[in-house]
Amino acid sequence: SPADGADSTRTDQHFPGPEPDARLGLAFPEGFGWGAATSAYQIEGATKDDGRGESVWDTFSHTPGKTRNGDTGDIAVDHYHRYPQDLDLMRDLGLRSYRFSISWPRIQADGTGEPNQRGLDFYRRLVDGLHERGIEPMATLFHWDTPQALQDKGGWASRATAYRFADYAEAVYAALGDAVPVWLTINEPKTVVQNGYIQAHHAPGIPDEPTAYQVAHHLQLAHGLAVQRLRGMNSNIRIGPAFNLHPCYPADDSPEALAATRLYDGYENRLYLDSALRGHYPADVLAAQGPDSPFAKSIQDGDLEIINTPVDLLAVQYYTPIYVKGDGSTEQRHATTKAFWQQIYPEGMYDILTRVHRDYGPIPLTVTENGLPCPDVLGPENDIDDVERVAFLRDHFAAAHRAIGDGVPLESYHVWSLLDNFEWDQGYEERWGLIYVDYATQQRILKRSARWYQRVIAENAV
Ligand code: NOJ
Repeated sequence: SPADGADSTRTDQHFPGPEPDARLGLAFPEGFGWGAATSAYQIEGATKDDGRGESVWDTFSHTPGKTRNGDTGDIAVDHYHRYPQDLDLMRDLGLRSYRFSISWPRIQADGTGEPNQRGLDFYRRLVDGLHERGIEPMATLFHWDTPQALQDKGGWASRATAYRFADYAEAVYAALGDAVPVWLTINEPKTVVQNGYIQAHHAPGIPDEPTAYQVAHHLQLAHGLAVQRLRGMNSNIRIGPAFNLHPCYPADDSPEALAATRLYDGYENRLYLDSALRGHYPADVLAAQGPDSPFAKSIQDGDLEIINTPVDLLAVQYYTPIYVKGDGSTEQRHATTKAFWQQIYPEGMYDILTRVHRDYGPIPLTVTENGLPCPDVLGPENDIDDVERVAFLRDHFAAAHRAIGDGVPLESYHVWSLLDNFEWDQGYEERWGLIYVDYATQQRILKRSARWYQRVIAENAV
């Protein structure tokens, strides 16, 4: 109820100092889908409730030394129990769209077989609660929480996992159906490849570069299979992939830097975009991996047609640019953030949106993630004066606005994240939310950025 929201949310904050949030006078198209995003393991907690099975992130976060401070998602922000309050906060912000993910091990504890009704019921309650508040649900089917039982059989290195995923997608769709108008298949396959398998600082934590590209192929295959399955069941929904794209720029004008940047872009962007939207893997990446690589050998006849099954929209997640030197190493050009891998470059948002529109369009685009981690210190008046986040969002919104002005069909924009949450290997120290969470009490407090965003949404303008 609204009263619950008021109890747990301060509404009397005072923000001292100069305004970083002066109006720029940039009006967005009518009905623009202002939103916020989360994912299941990062917010839900309740990892043993209602028949949920274990995922690779339960295993990984409980392995000593894998996450900062040994943090786990066991409790997270307890969204599984507190979702009504969180829904009220979304309504208070005026969100038009909410992107969340469905936990595979809640639906199939072992990643296969009959779906768990209690798990499905949770998402049904969540989706109904969104509709009651006039917020459009956008569901991601997979945000990295592979059932541990499937990992024990090889996980994404095994082709069978792609087929298990399609079965799971079908079970979820059968239960939620048209109540969710927009579906995303796999969140950031690249991050699973790079962080899960190459650098291995994410689950499952297997440092094996050749296998990583086999994993990439199976994730792409899973995407295509899921699109086919859902299409076969109903045509009213819209579905697409969610890629984190990094615009790659040469660090200098040398031919070496240009060539290195091109290949870097193949691994960062075209590997996923070309296969899903053009039906082939980039020739440079295929050549670099070689014909005898696990990657090349995992590709079977007909796979690219499956991966290239037509989609209705392309979800773009943009956080940082990459500058590539002639020797293939990278360089820092802009201010970095609390996330070691992030440099602040709003122009990158314009560049990536216009590029995907030019190279892969026309196709409707949505930004499904963009955001900034901040120190977010709780002030004496229970205020969180995250001016850096306000400035960051303002500048990235402005870049998106410019892209729209240049003809890019961007229909919505989801800030990462609605709430502070479990930032994977970085645990709870890295705060990304519009809404602060006091982890000792689970109290939610709107940050300055949330109030600013509330106004942007109400005015449909930056
Ligand atoms: C991308 C991921 O999808 C999300 O889970 C993560 O928290 C944010 N980036 C921030 O790193």
